[in-house]
Amino acid sequence: MSIIIAVDGTAASGKGTLAKRVARHFNFAHMDSGALYRLTALAVLDQNGDPSREADAVKGARTIDLARAGDPAIRSDKVGKASSQVAAIPAVRQALYAFQKSFLEHPPGNSLGAVMDGRDIGTVIAPNATAKLFVDAKPEVRARRRWLELKSLGIDRNEAELLAEIVARDHADRTRAVSPLKQAADASLLDTSALGIDAAFAAALALVEPKVTSALKASHRG
Ligand code: CDP
Repeated sequence: MSIIIAVDGTAASGKGTLAKRVARHFNFAHMDSGALYRLTALAVLDQNGDPSREADAVKGARTIDLARAGDPAIRSDKVGKASSQVAAIPAVRQALYAFQKSFLEHPPGNSLGAVMDGRDIGTVIAPNATAKLFVDAKPEVRARRRWLELKSLGIDRNEAELLAEIVARDHADRTRAVSPLKQAADASLLDTSALGIDAAFAAALALVEPKVTSALKASHRG
């Protein structure tokens, strides 16, 4: 059984950056599950489909191009909004479920564990995860981070508009019927409003390391 660290949280909370660093620290595999929904949305938009229409969205989920996971095109606000629309459709979540499960059960590169970030990892995808984090920050702080992230990708956006989009997307994610964004009962809350990347990483590690260490010991005892 592989060791699983679930990192869920709100939009632009820094969960992706944290998840990547935590994975590197333990030499675990990392997956950004949000990229799957963003790639689905991109496929739908590329095929001139409607992201809120089940047939179009499911077709998108079945035709995602994983090679484009690093493409800045998936980070645009248009794709972000469409990703939240496709993510609310149960058949889309079902189509992406097996892929996420198999990544966690058999992490690539023979890693002993995997870190996955998203919205429903600790609640639905891996309810028995070894350690769970729920990452959040004040909306204004998140809007500023997203503004900086987009700027580094060469995209210049209005910060107030980004704030409105983030708040709207969180609302949609929290109130959807299927796999809503919510903190799992056994997840540790990490508010990164006042924390830079290094401080957030240290805080995340302090929360997950004891659990990961004891799981690694147990797996060695076999
Ligand atoms: O980067 P950011 O936090 O803005 O978003 P993301 O993690 O890339 O996720 C984009 C959208 O995909 C979210 O707003 C959710 O609607 C959806 N998503 C989801 O439903 N379940 C996941 N496990 C991950 C993302």
